[in-house]
Amino acid sequence: MTPEDLKLLVRTIPDFPKPGILFRDVTTLMGHGEGFAAAVALMADKVAASGAEAVAGIEARGFIFGAAIAARLGLAFIPVRKPGKLPVPVLAIDYALEYGTDTLEVDPGAVGEGRRVVLIDDLLATGGTALAALELLRRAGGTVSHALFLVDLPDLGGAERLQGAGIAVEALLDYP
Ligand code: PRP
Ligand code: ADE
Repeated sequence: MTPEDLKLLVRTIPDFPKPGILFRDVTTLMGHGEGFAAAVALMADKVAASGAEAVAGIEARGFIFGAAIAARLGLAFIPVRKPGKLPVPVLAIDYALEYGTDTLEVDPGAVGEGRRVVLIDDLLATGGTALAALELLRRAGGTVSHALFLVDLPDLGGAERLQGAGIAVEALLDYP
């Protein structure tokens, strides 16, 4: 399946979770076995080309794609978690979302000094979530030079913000 085919599997819901937000719902793509497998395969090819040694995924939807990609390539998976979930002292950061604020946490021991880590999430909107995750992974010693998303919403400027922080940004699908 091509990225154009995959685009048809993403459902669009207006005014969720707040009025004015056009929600790009990737659960319908995950619910299509062939589509999900194709998305994971295409993303895994990009991760392999990046030379990454580990895959960091952002809770929750970034876990679904990040873990599948890591397992496909035999790479370690690093969970970047929502607050209060990890059982060890964590690095934490607050960040702004397209529709609210939240906190992310990482176990510094999961990252490893100098390890080449690629950052994965399902969707890039304002880039606030990915920038926060990037900052945490760097503080934990990771070398992060690539971020990869299933979906980019380019009008919200996330890719520019991440590139400004010094990383290459790729996405399979975009919704201008
Ligand atoms: C969504 C999405 C990204 C983030 C993108 O997650 O999965 O992580 O928003 O937005 P941004 O680029 O403006 O930061 P959400 O916070 O809705 O959490 P979820 O994965 O737990 O559903
Ligand atoms: N996360 C942030 N903005 C989003 C959007 N418009 N659709 C789906 N997930 C999102």
